[in-house]
Amino acid sequence: MIYHLDITSSTNDDARDEKYREGDVVWAEFQTAGRGQRGHVWHSKRGENLTFSVVLEPTFLPITEQFSVSEVVALSLVDTLAEYGIEARIKWTNDIYVGDKKLVGILIEHSLAPTSLRRTIVGIGININQTEFDASLPNPVSMAQLLGRELKAEEVLHCFLKHLQRNYATLREIKNEENSIHQRYNKLLYRLEEYHTYALPSGERFRAKILGTAPNGALRLENEKGTIKDYLFKEVEFIIF
Ligand code: BTN
Repeated sequence: MIYHLDITSSTNDDARDEKYREGDVVWAEFQTAGRGQRGHVWHSKRGENLTFSVVLEPTFLPITEQFSVSEVVALSLVDTLAEYGIEARIKWTNDIYVGDKKLVGILIEHSLAPTSLRRTIVGIGININQTEFDASLPNPVSMAQLLGRELKAEEVLHCFLKHLQRNYATLREIKNEENSIHQRYNKLLYRLEEYHTYALPSGERFRAKILGTAPNGALRLENEKGTIKDYLFKEVEFIIF
């Protein structure tokens, strides 16, 4: 069921309420405290974009496989954008990019049972019709800017939910035997197999190319000397400009 609110603090916070069950969506026209990854604020003009959270209950997934939820969500966004003629890539771990610009932000929050996932809040911000962005954002873009026309946010939401349902079913059912979700995610990575600059938390920079991701979600990079290393979230940063 879709719960459509005019204003709220953050749909991810609302969706924590246990009254929302698997498949429920909390969608708001405006968030007063939209949250991004790494403690950032998510900026989105009132009524111009999509800001919503989907509740999942992936109790069939061991904790060690939690990254596959991120994969399913990212793939569903790429599939949605493809329906609109937009060729998007996945910037590890959780952004959707078109060229060097960010079109979608994803904030996934898990709550865990002893050995499996219990409940997952998938928060998504898609820039739909906004054309002027906060100057603090380095590289935003919207679907309207890419397509040269305004879109109906609700249609984009329904399109995404259709793809999410399909990809999530693939993950849940045995159809994912060959790990097709993980393989597709890897093929769609932004900057795959191209040399670019990356930064370590120490500030040290190095050039490397992305080979893919490990099943635990670590980014596999090969540096110019041919050394291959896996980096977990926050262990490496993309340098985009
Ligand atoms: C990021 O790119 O840093 C992630 C942004 C996630 C934003 C969405 S908007 C809907 C949901 N509610 C939030 O407070 N954040 C997510």
